[in-house]
Amino acid sequence: MVKIAFNSALAHKALGKEVPASETDPELAGARLGSESSTAGSLLTLLGIAFILSGLIVGGACLYRYFTPKRLYHGSMQFSDVSAGVAGENQPYYLPRVEEEVEISDNMAVISVPPPRFRSGDPAYILHDFHRKLTAYLDLTLRTCFVIPLNTSVVLPPQDLMDLFMQLMSGSYRSYLVQEDLVVTERVDDIKPLGFYIRRLCDGKETYRMQPRSELPGGRIQKRSEEKCFTIHHFENKFVTETRICKA
Ligand SMILES: *[C@@H]1O[C@H](CO)[C@@H](O)[C@H](O)[C@H]1NC(C)=O
Repeated sequence: MVKIAFNSALAHKALGKEVPASETDPELAGARLGSESSTAGSLLTLLGIAFILSGLIVGGACLYRYFTPKRLYHGSMQFSDVSAGVAGENQPYYLPRVEEEVEISDNMAVISVPPPRFRSGDPAYILHDFHRKLTAYLDLTLRTCFVIPLNTSVVLPPQDLMDLFMQLMSGSYRSYLVQEDLVVTERVDDIKPLGFYIRRLCDGKETYRMQPRSELPGGRIQKRSEEKCFTIHHFENKFVTETRICKA
């Protein structure tokens, strides 16, 4: 692409120089066309440079993609929500569906959850840092980050996650819903100790730590009415997880 653009720029320039030579009065034509062709020439040169630069940028981006070992996948899962109403007897014709894009590398996975259609739930980025054993949810509606230890019984390791997405690419997948109830515990002022990936994701956003509600002292019973809760539907295993995050 770059080469062609540059060549055509040169060709135009060459053409501009040929014109005065074929004129009957070379001096007059040379003076007139000279200034014109030099303006046109410099414009074309600029255009050429712009093409080269854009080529370099695109090329650089491709190289960067090529050399960092990460892969992008897209997948969707249909699920039946056993907790919602009469299960089994009253199977709806339309099963809810969760879609996601995921980028997987050796030690992390970033999942992009789009705003769900026909259902409540927030769009989000979910980052699993397998090395530091942490998960961060960036809720895109609230523009807030929530961090919790990686739950390895929910999140498949990178290789298995890739296998799952390969499987999802070949047809539709029916699954079930697992609910997860998380509670915000404290605000994080310094996100540096959370590692490079989470720092990059949560930079400039309010960040909080969370805990499973079941791990809170008296957690299962206590449920304050003034809590603000929101949900994110996602999957990183063979089932869909409804993560409910509550802020006191
Ligand atoms: C991981 O998630 C499962 C399912 O939501 C839950 O039962 C379990 O308690 C969680 N484990 C930890 C350590 O949070």
